[in-house]
Amino acid sequence: MRSLNNILELSVEEIDELIKTALDIIENPGSYSEICKGKKLATLFFEPSTRTRLSFEAAMMELGGNVLGFSEATSSSASKGESVADTSRVVSCYADIIAMRHPKEGAPYVASLNATVPVINAGDGGHNHPTQTLADLLTIYRERGTLNNMTVGFCGDLKFGRTVHSLIQALSRYTGIKVVLISPEELKLPSYVKKDTLSANNIPYEQTNDLESAISQLDILYMTRVQKERFFNEEDYLRLKDSYILDPDKLVTAKKDLVIMHPLPRVNEISVAVDADPRAHYFDQVLNGKYMRMALILMLLGLNREV
Ligand code: NCD
Repeated sequence: MRSLNNILELSVEEIDELIKTALDIIENPGSYSEICKGKKLATLFFEPSTRTRLSFEAAMMELGGNVLGFSEATSSSASKGESVADTSRVVSCYADIIAMRHPKEGAPYVASLNATVPVINAGDGGHNHPTQTLADLLTIYRERGTLNNMTVGFCGDLKFGRTVHSLIQALSRYTGIKVVLISPEELKLPSYVKKDTLSANNIPYEQTNDLESAISQLDILYMTRVQKERFFNEEDYLRLKDSYILDPDKLVTAKKDLVIMHPLPRVNEISVAVDADPRAHYFDQVLNGKYMRMALILMLLGLNREV
């Protein structure tokens, strides 16, 4: 039995396999519509979510399975003091697979040690978000035809942004990757990601606080929201929240085939005027996330399309 806590637990070959399955699902949705008949996915969300939870649920439904779960800690026994370990043991009696989001780093990992069914990390605090990365990788692959040879700019809250940490880890295994880290001083990428991922894999990277001067060299621009819920004081959040706002003026010097991404929800980071730009792909990420979650559920349950 296998869980997914961190994107690096999937090999590059397995990620290729997931992309292949997702592309096949897009081509042949009917061949997958009953494959999870009789199976149940539990979504245990101790932190707010729109996309990730609904995307897991839609993914399981489109595979013919059923879903159960809760969308806030207050509606679960966590509010009575139950531990994540006990909750995951209990839910293992009801479901074949669990997707868990939790504000505490490592909580889904603890769940995976105690559950008797696979546990998928659907976001743990300011740490990791491997299934958003699967959505991001499929989006990049569909736009560029490869995951190699590109300069990727990450802009915004690189400190608390778990989607950034997981995507950088995933990209560090491809060739010809350069990274540009664009953030205010206080929201720089944590040094453990720089050291263990970028430096350890000899990925060239630069750090700047200036989006406008960096934008022309980028093939991918990954914008992120300042993670309000991780701040200790509101004043800091208010000062930093609008550090970067991507608008059509800032895109004047950008490449014609730039891929603009954002894991969503967006607050002010991308002006709605950018939505009509053909380079905007943040709503494609949403759909791609559902297909990759379908592929991941099949992989972890050991199910294949009958051919
Ligand atoms: C992200 C998250 O939860 O980390 N959202 C998502 O899952 N698409 C990004 C965010 O909340 O800013």
